[in-house]
Amino acid sequence: MSTITKVTKAVFPVAGLGTRFLPATKSVAKELLPIVDKPLIQYAVEEAVAAGIDTMIFITGRSKNAIIDHFDKAYELETELENKNKTELLALLRSIVPPNVSFVFIRQPEPLGLGHAVACAKPVIGDEPFAVILADDLVEDATRGCMAQMVKLYDEQHCSILAVERVNPADTGSYGIVRTGESSGTHAPIELIVEKPKPEVAPSNLAVIGRYILTPAIFDKLATTERGAGGEIQLTDAIADLLKDQQVLAFEFEGTRYDCGSKLGFLIANVEHGLLHKELKDDFLVYLKNLMQKLS
Ligand code: UTP
Repeated sequence: MSTITKVTKAVFPVAGLGTRFLPATKSVAKELLPIVDKPLIQYAVEEAVAAGIDTMIFITGRSKNAIIDHFDKAYELETELENKNKTELLALLRSIVPPNVSFVFIRQPEPLGLGHAVACAKPVIGDEPFAVILADDLVEDATRGCMAQMVKLYDEQHCSILAVERVNPADTGSYGIVRTGESSGTHAPIELIVEKPKPEVAPSNLAVIGRYILTPAIFDKLATTERGAGGEIQLTDAIADLLKDQQVLAFEFEGTRYDCGSKLGFLIANVEHGLLHKELKDDFLVYLKNLMQKLS
């Protein structure tokens, strides 16, 4: 049993192949694709920082070195901006690496699945609860972020927590789907979890999204998890095993999720963020209105 009860570490699995975004992702990491002008992975790290997390553990793979560079100091660029007196841009650049935050990079030798990627973090996590953030699910709310909401719940409940949302029943085959017991407002105990069930056999339409808090007991489960859906070692299967020993909660977070792992979700996120962007919003709105007129 873990004696450390605070969530201070987050795992960012970024070693997937990103096949749905080929050819863009042949040599560029999916997690570096920008929503307007900020890469997905930076939104994810900012969400973790807002939740009080100070150790960011990236599980990287082939073609992902630019992610490491993104969170490194860019001396030449900083000097160049300094020389040109571009102070605002310089501050923006420096803010990418928040103060008092450590970055750890672990290589996943082969993309054997999300469960396998999370298992790669074990030597750094040790015997602590930890967060898992999938950067291609961009989640935003009006306050401190989805992970901050989850950490707050963890501090009260001290058990694994999965963020969930209702999806179109026809789409259950794209998600881990849970059946829950009696709800206590925002959260409910998970009774059953299955990976990518077809709609006709899905236990509900409550889908797990890319935010988890897990107890370290998950590592023992992952060690014995066999390849499941898609021939991959699935985190969902290890969580199903964990459920036999420990409570796992489904948490209906406040906020909006953009599925930026899909092209449509990525486009929607860009349009909506373009309409909020302080430099672009007015011109972009005029453009969209004109476009709608032309199309109608
Ligand atoms: P996805 O299911 O979105 O897979 O992985 P993917 O490879 O990124 O993208 P597609 O489906 O081929 O387009 C969910 C998350 O798990 C990570 C991915 O980087 C993504 O953040 N992952 C997946 C790994 O880190 N390693 C793996 O072996 C598989």
